[in-house]
Amino acid sequence: MKPTGIADDAMAHHSMWSAPISEIPPGCSAKFHILWRERLVEGFVVNFDGRYYAYVNYCIHAGTPLDWWPNEFFNEDSRFLVCGTHGSLYEPDSGKCAGGPCGGGTLFPLQVQVTGDRIVVTAT
Ligand code: FES
Repeated sequence: MKPTGIADDAMAHHSMWSAPISEIPPGCSAKFHILWRERLVEGFVVNFDGRYYAYVNYCIHAGTPLDWWPNEFFNEDSRFLVCGTHGSLYEPDSGKCAGGPCGGGTLFPLQVQVTGDRIVVTAT
């Protein structure tokens, strides 16, 4: 996995991104760029208990990226995604605010499929 978690392959600037499953083991994540609502945004995918969930990397509180360190999204006990700016907590499997200043909102989801040995994220 690249140190920053940023993908730099040919798929990086389209409305689809994919990576081998082996690159994102449980408790890990990857970041990428993707076309979403006609804008190039940063997205991320997490492996939470063996299932994959992807979101736009945009905290709904004040709009900053979530990761508290590059490509680090989970809190200490790995039960929640945590925003590094003011500490909002989000449920990894739904993107719903679970505490902090995100005020009951939800992260913007991206679609995830596992196809063969690859994770495929699409923005619709
Ligand atoms: S910007 Fe994420 S908690 Fe404030």
